[in-house]
Amino acid sequence: LGAGVLGIAAYAGRDLLIGKKATLASATARSQLLVPPLYSGEREGGERVFDLNLRHGVSHFFEGIETPTIGINQPYLGPTLEMHAGDTVRMNVTSDLSETATVHWHGFHLPARADGGPHQPIEPGGSWTARFDVRQRAAMFWYHSHAHRRSGPQVYQGLAGMIYVRDSASEALDLPNDYGIDDIPLVVQDRAFARDGSLVYSTRMHNIMMGMMGDTMLVNGVVEPVFEAKSDRLRLRLVNSSNARFYRFGFDDGRSFHQIGTDGGLLTAPLPTDNVVLAPGERAQVIVDVSDGRPVSLLADGLEIMGMGNMGRGMRGSGSMGDSDRPTDNWMMGDRGGRGGMMGEEERRDGMMGGMMDERRRFTVLDIQPAASRRRAIAMPRQLATLPQVDPGNAVRTRRFVLDMGMGMRMMRGGGFTINGKSMDTQRVDETVRVNTTEIWQVENASMMAHPFHIHDVQFRILDRNGRAPDATEQGLKDTVVVYPGEAVRLLLRFEDYTDPDLPYMYHCHILEHEDAGMMGQFTVTA
Ligand code: C2O
Ligand code: CU
Ligand code: CU
Repeated sequence: LGAGVLGIAAYAGRDLLIGKKATLASATARSQLLVPPLYSGEREGGERVFDLNLRHGVSHFFEGIETPTIGINQPYLGPTLEMHAGDTVRMNVTSDLSETATVHWHGFHLPARADGGPHQPIEPGGSWTARFDVRQRAAMFWYHSHAHRRSGPQVYQGLAGMIYVRDSASEALDLPNDYGIDDIPLVVQDRAFARDGSLVYSTRMHNIMMGMMGDTMLVNGVVEPVFEAKSDRLRLRLVNSSNARFYRFGFDDGRSFHQIGTDGGLLTAPLPTDNVVLAPGERAQVIVDVSDGRPVSLLADGLEIMGMGNMGRGMRGSGSMGDSDRPTDNWMMGDRGGRGGMMGEEERRDGMMGGMMDERRRFTVLDIQPAASRRRAIAMPRQLATLPQVDPGNAVRTRRFVLDMGMGMRMMRGGGFTINGKSMDTQRVDETVRVNTTEIWQVENASMMAHPFHIHDVQFRILDRNGRAPDATEQGLKDTVVVYPGEAVRLLLRFEDYTDPDLPYMYHCHILEHEDAGMMGQFTVTA
């Protein structure tokens, strides 16, 4: 199960920063939010050309401490790529990394050869070019490593960035649109640091089962940053780029805000709410009003992801798993909320399990301090976009996908993370769909953890969850959907434009450790 640890401190016997971080951070002035550089590429013969270089670097998450990281054109994360619907883009990717990597354009509808999945590896010192037309609505997408069995550690070290797609319909709306001023991308990631400042990526069984979680929140690569708002109304574009942690975002004073977009585009109308839940891979655009001039903090509650969809029940004592199925390794969670459970004193002290167990902890994502003089708010548009009708009557067939974790000895041996009983095999095509058809994909969760299910090449619609219509926040365009334990979620997908009988797209759990461990399958789109 991926024993290698590239450029990351080995876990065993390390002193972790956990618990000491607070002292470190408070000894340092609060850092300003960094906004990744906006990179619009160069115009070359009708194409928009981006040069992206994957490289090792050194980052300073804590003052005076150096952390080895990887990034794209910079030490950690990458620039925000800006493109327009209708562009033809060319991505020239070179790699100075010491291991095989890939760059996947998450959420994009494009030919399989340009997808950047495990079939488009970039060797150390090598390069890869992807050319595709931008056939997206305006939204925020992202790019990240999709290396075979190595997505988890590579994204964890920084191999990710954002993509802004613009289109004329959305530009015509009165929405905050000034990058870094009132339109702010927020890449949310939890990380664990060793005392020497290196990132800790554990491949212990429990970190694979629950996914790798840390206790330090990074936003655009900055620990708990501060942002000075120069406008009364801010558009925040959130991407949960954590390996495994789910969050519920909201403000410390409980103020309501508007959600305006989902993964693949704008909603039909602004949706008033006071919280947004995002699993790894998911995005949301929200608009918050700070015209009262009072400082406000964006918080994220790390969510319970075990149990039968009630977000509150732990595995232990849930009765859903017999003792005989328990391996001796302590990869199981203890009682929820209680530090203790099955973990020994040593493991609690080392903080790693503490972080793992403490899933309902609360993080500060961003402290917003309204500047004394601010740009005045513009009125919120009533209507944002027109979405295609959701008509399941067009579907030519329904496919079933059952997610499972094959607990116990099977998982200990590897191969326990499955979709329809199969673990990922790059040589096997699991599903073949016809181009220009609409299908229903019914995704069922037979395990005891929630999984964010992601499908390449399409933006889909959610039909229902166990027969119930999705709530309003899930009625937009989606490429990643949370499937809670015991749930069957039906999705409506339309396959168009691109065919390749030999080269597959992926569908998988976006908890990167689950993906790396095999909870992924492949489909081709054929003529
Ligand atoms: Cu964001 Cu297949 O990944
Ligand atoms: Cu993707
Ligand atoms: Cu999963």
